Amino acid sequence: MSRNLKLGIFGFGVVGQGLYHVLEETKGIKAEILKICVKNKQKKRPLPMEYFTYKKEDILENPEVDVVLELIDDPKAAFEIVTAALKKGKAVVTANKKMVADHMTELYELQKEYNAPLLYEGACCASIPIIRNLEEYYDNDLLSAVEGIFNGSTNYILTKVFSEQKSFGEALTEAQELGYAETDPSLDIEGFDAKYKLCIILTHAFGLFVNPDDIFNYGIQNISEFDIKIARERGYKIKLVAKSRKIDDKVIAMVMPQFVSDKSELYKVEREFNGVIVEGAFSEHQFFIGKGAGGYPTGSAVLSDISALTYNYMYEYKKTKQVADLELSSDYEIIIYLRFDNQSIINKDDFNLILEEYKALENHYVIGKINFSKLVGSKWLSNPNINIILMENGNENHC
Ligand code: HSE
Repeated sequence: MSRNLKLGIFGFGVVGQGLYHVLEETKGIKAEILKICVKNKQKKRPLPMEYFTYKKEDILENPEVDVVLELIDDPKAAFEIVTAALKKGKAVVTANKKMVADHMTELYELQKEYNAPLLYEGACCASIPIIRNLEEYYDNDLLSAVEGIFNGSTNYILTKVFSEQKSFGEALTEAQELGYAETDPSLDIEGFDAKYKLCIILTHAFGLFVNPDDIFNYGIQNISEFDIKIARERGYKIKLVAKSRKIDDKVIAMVMPQFVSDKSELYKVEREFNGVIVEGAFSEHQFFIGKGAGGYPTGSAVLSDISALTYNYMYEYKKTKQVADLELSSDYEIIIYLRFDNQSIINKDDFNLILEEYKALENHYVIGKINFSKLVGSKWLSNPNINIILMENGNENHC
């Protein structure tokens, strides 16, 4: 039997407003907004002021509120709100990927202790229903890989730079104006946002609780005209790809730019769309595509979580109970393109095998096989005159 839910919302930015409109349009949903808690008293609000409060207690201490929707930007304040709500036995829906990724273990324990559900479909790839699919649909399939484009802003920027010859800065400004980028866009550009989503997916795909600091991320900040030229000459696009793959009792995970050819589904994922490839022993290769950023796509995922709460759904974290003794590994070989401007920066002995080498006046590159652990520890990562791109299939046959 589904029930009527009373909602208390924290935050009324892009996602909060998107959700408001989604709720307005969705006549079938048994949920109504009681209060919206916001911080800024000066800001003009698009709804009657009776909806709003500046005091978190008006939601957290209100016994009428069944569901707290946490849609604010600040992960620290978000964690405090979510913790307080779960401790009151209230159901919580959040779209805050950093908060969930940073505190997954604590949030899992809190849900068990207080028997209160926390749902976060909107935190991963917005409109693509990946979390509930990993949790429910693939609950018994032996998953071997989940990978894809998990960040809308960087995909938007790369699309504009590749297909419309826009500058990186111009494309970033557009992504910000359209409400896709984080308040601090370096989280998008340097691959942190995609990494938080990957961490959440690792829990639901492989039953792993990981600290985001233990997952490697390298972003698109150093991509140059030269790299784009090389990609075009070879028929590639460059995409920021989050990868996880299970090999025996090890899981490899990373976020990196990758050359992608038209043989991959990811090639056709453009603008703010995300794409997720799931590989399972029995289902084999499957591909999900949908908008990965923006108020309505994220609002649609939050709506779906609210709907799930009307029938008392909560994640069971099924994979954590099925798969024993999996651990993260960085001991495997990958194939990378490494572009640099000064020969002395590179020690070619770091590579296990050089496959290709290019030298010119200003730009040099090598394509070669390298142990991932060597890349993770390399001084190249902080050098802005270097760029690293994973070759297509550069992590598949060499583990
Ligand atoms: N900044 C994020 C992105 C928003 O661009 O994907 C959606 O999580």
